[in-house]
Amino acid sequence: MIIVETIDQARQAVAQARSDGKTIGLVPTMGALHEGHLVLIHRCLDECDFTVVSIFVNPTQFGPNEDLKSYPSPFETDCYRCREIGVDLIFAPPVRQMYPQENLSWVKVDKITDHLCGTSRPTHFRGVCTVVTKLFNIIHPQIAYFGQKDAQQLRVIRRMVADLNMPVEIRDCPTVRESDGLAMSSRNANLNPAQRRQALCLSQSLNLAGELVNAGTVDCAIIIEAMKAVIEKQPDARIDYISIVDNELLQPIDQIDRAAIVALAVHIGSVRLIDNIMVDPAAKNI
Ligand code: PAJ
Repeated sequence: MIIVETIDQARQAVAQARSDGKTIGLVPTMGALHEGHLVLIHRCLDECDFTVVSIFVNPTQFGPNEDLKSYPSPFETDCYRCREIGVDLIFAPPVRQMYPQENLSWVKVDKITDHLCGTSRPTHFRGVCTVVTKLFNIIHPQIAYFGQKDAQQLRVIRRMVADLNMPVEIRDCPTVRESDGLAMSSRNANLNPAQRRQALCLSQSLNLAGELVNAGTVDCAIIIEAMKAVIEKQPDARIDYISIVDNELLQPIDQIDRAAIVALAVHIGSVRLIDNIMVDPAAKNI
């Protein structure tokens, strides 16, 4: 496994693989790798000849009062785990490699970013789209992998690639959860034991939403109220949003009359967690 920090080194390593006729796959991450990341990486290893994992805590997707400084970065452990499973290249640039000067050029996706995390993190997706575009321009992967855990991010990236004719195929993997249901997240490491227990309210409220849809409830207001009640039982939980949106443009809906996404963001103490499920009145959910 090669570990590189500069764009030139990354380009060189990938160019060699490409000239050998290999399919290049990219898994963009911010590190602190867990099973959720590893599922994406394993899929990439299965489907591509040359697997690149980028590890970069991208400052432009964090707002001024967000957790950039406390974001975990156990770089050695990340490298060890990648080496163990056969990753070919880690691209781990320092911030000055990716942003050597004030960034004046941004990639923005409209509409899909209007709700959910776009409301409370107004510059977040601009930062995500810009850094992912930069990574695509540096690595030129044929395939890139993203998780359904970040449902809005996945749809924003898919739309960006389609609208801007980026020559990359986006593939996605389902959300990986701890055995008790908590969606895996690098931010879980910042929860103390009491908060870790309370964090279960996210997946519990989503499960309740799935059960209500299964039982024939289609009124979104009723489902959201029921979810709220589950979360408000936890003393350290503060709801950022609970929303039910359509599956394409992520616009809020009143009635679940087709496949939809139930999504939420909740602060547990100072840690902001997100989770979501797809619900479909025509299918069995949960
Ligand atoms: P990060 O949060 O590190 O996530 C990297 C990838 O792993 C994303 O595609 C995310 O959806 C996926 N992922 C995270 N937790 C998951 C889980 N429990 N199950 C399945 N997949 C999971 O998302 C980012 O980084 C950044 O925004 C990035 C795309 C790298 C741009 O900076």
